[in-house]
Amino acid sequence: MLDVRNIFMSTIYLIKILGSLLALTFFSIFSVITTLRGNLGYKKQRIRQRIYKSGLFHPYCNAGGGGERVLWVAIQALQKNYPKAEFFIYTGDVEATPIEIIEKVRKNFNVDVSKSVKFIYLNKRKWVEADQYPIFTLLGQALGSLYLGLEALSKLNPDVFIETTGFTFTLPLFKYLGGCKTGCYVHYPTITKDMLKRVRNRQAIYNNRAVIARNPALTMAKLVYYHVFAWIYSLAGQCSDSTLVNSTFTQEHLNVLWNRPLHLVYPPCEVDHLKKIPRAAQRPKRIRIMSLAQFRPEKTTPYNSRPCTS
Ligand SMILES: *[C@@H]1O[C@H](CO)[C@@H](O)[C@H](O)[C@H]1NC(C)=O
Repeated sequence: MLDVRNIFMSTIYLIKILGSLLALTFFSIFSVITTLRGNLGYKKQRIRQRIYKSGLFHPYCNAGGGGERVLWVAIQALQKNYPKAEFFIYTGDVEATPIEIIEKVRKNFNVDVSKSVKFIYLNKRKWVEADQYPIFTLLGQALGSLYLGLEALSKLNPDVFIETTGFTFTLPLFKYLGGCKTGCYVHYPTITKDMLKRVRNRQAIYNNRAVIARNPALTMAKLVYYHVFAWIYSLAGQCSDSTLVNSTFTQEHLNVLWNRPLHLVYPPCEVDHLKKIPRAAQRPKRIRIMSLAQFRPEKTTPYNSRPCTS
C-alpha cells in the first residue's frame, strides 16, 4: 500500500528544495543589481542623518478603519521623532486628493499629519483583492501584492520601507531590489498553524470548502499548498528588519512562523472624549464594563474555546 504521508512529505521537501534554489538565484540577482546601483551607501548615510525618505505601504489608506488609525498615529509619531524625514504613502485610493485624505484624517481621527506627508498613487490595486482569486486566494494575493509592490517601487524607491497592511511579500522586493531598510506592523498573520490544522482535520470552515473537506485527495493537495505557502510566508518575514505586532494573538502565531524578534505594540485608541464624561462624586459599588467588538470567522479557535486575545 502507498504510504500517503511519505508521498506528502517528499513532495513538500522537493518543492522546498526547488524553491530554495530559485530563491537563491533571485537573491543573487537582486544583490548584484543593488550593488551595481551603488546607492546603498547614500541610503545608510541619509538614515544616520535622519533625513531619509520613508515609504509606507498602505493601499487602502483612505478607508477610515482601525488599521488606518494605526497608520496615521504612527506617521504623527515618526514626524515628531524624525522632523527632517519625508513620508510617502503608497495608496490605491486614486479618486481622493491628498487634501481630501488629510482632511478626512483630521475629521475622523482627530490626527494632524499635514506636515511632510506625500502620496504615491498606485493603479494596480485590484490585483491584491481577494475576490480576484476564487481559488488559490492566498497565493494570488501574494503575487498580486508583488505586482503592486513593483509599481510602488518603480514610482519611488525610499530609504526606509514600512508595510502596514499585511502585504508581507512586498518586503523582499524593497529590501533586495530597492536596497531599503524594512519594517512592518502586523495586524493579523496571513496563514496560521490553526488554518493548517483545520484542513488536516478535514473541517469545512471559512478557509476550507466542503468539497475539499470531503475529498482526501483534494485535502492532501491543499495541505501541500498551505505548507509551501506558510514556508514562503516565513521566508518573506525574514526580510523584515523590524517587526511590530498588534496583539498577543498575532505575536504567538508569528513566533511560530517567522522566528524573528517581535515587538508588541497595541494599536492606539482614542479616549479623549471618554475622559470628558463627568463622573459621579462617589465611586459606584460595582463597576460594569461593556465592551463592543466585531466577530470574524477567521478568529475562531475551535480546539480550545479560549477567547482570542487580540
Ligand atoms: C489586531 O488586528 C486585527 C486585524 O485588523 C484586529 O481584528 C484586532 O482586533 C487587532 N488587535 C488589537 C489588540 O487591536
